[in-house]
Amino acid sequence: MKHFTQFENKSLADRLIEKALAYKNNPRIDISKGLGKRVGCIFLNPSLRTRASTQIAAMNLGMEAIVMNMDKEGWALEMKEGAIMNKGTVEHIKDAAAVLGTYFDVLAVRAFPSLVDKKEDTEDYIFNQFIKYSGIPVVSLESAIRHPLQSLADMVTIQEHMLSGVKPKVVLTWAPHIKAIPHAVANSFAEWAVGCDYDLTITHPEGYELDEKFTKGATIEYDQNKALVGADFVYVKNWSAFNDYGKIHTTDPDWMLRESHFKNASGAKVMHCLPVRRNVELSDEVLDGQRSLVQKQAENRIYAAQAVLSMIIE
Ligand code: CP
Repeated sequence: MKHFTQFENKSLADRLIEKALAYKNNPRIDISKGLGKRVGCIFLNPSLRTRASTQIAAMNLGMEAIVMNMDKEGWALEMKEGAIMNKGTVEHIKDAAAVLGTYFDVLAVRAFPSLVDKKEDTEDYIFNQFIKYSGIPVVSLESAIRHPLQSLADMVTIQEHMLSGVKPKVVLTWAPHIKAIPHAVANSFAEWAVGCDYDLTITHPEGYELDEKFTKGATIEYDQNKALVGADFVYVKNWSAFNDYGKIHTTDPDWMLRESHFKNASGAKVMHCLPVRRNVELSDEVLDGQRSLVQKQAENRIYAAQAVLSMIIE
């Protein structure tokens, strides 16, 4: 595996899940594997879980992790090819990424979308500039269109809680939010859930259709109550409109899951990548109740990152 940016195939996903579960069982079993190696964690946007879990994962492998919060501490980066840099940007991405490529063995990058320039976002332009100019393996810490480390942790969490030998019904449901939110978590979750051969239903209000590239193989159901019938896992996430790019069409509070939504899915477990806006996206009673897996997902971020780093440095 050269880079880790997306779901590749089920065989690789299965190996990563197995490796993550092995590390969870014995986190420091490979403590010498990464000795002398460095990962540079470049954040162009805020983070709690991704930042801490990737650092811990690197430490568990004996690697050194250096975190740069470029949005706050670095030079303002210019992304446009051929730009005349006579305004606010100080350093071009092609110079910065090339330098970082000489400092590290692995680069890990978070680069959110603008939600304004659809073409640039859907091409994952900024994230791909780091791949193009660093010349070293790059791990996605969430790009404009995907969040594969989150999805790997989500698959590990489902694997831990599903009945062996039974294909689970997994529902990805849109939830209300007050801000325009990227599509990366929802895209990636759909890509990985279908790729891992789960029975995936996606439910959202009309107008919130995701990019079909990520939802192929899933059932789309606009009635949330119908979608939830018989669900084993319900993944809750907001995203802004994709077709009417980056827009908020509704904040209908009926889409926020409460216990009363689970009449026809009594055993369903509830997932969310966090951070979550309590009592906007998800009710306190669900988040703090028995069906919530959100803390387990967050914990599994460590072992997902550890499995990925371990395979990349192999
Ligand atoms: N789920 C997730 O990526 O959390 P952070 O944004 O805090 O890293």
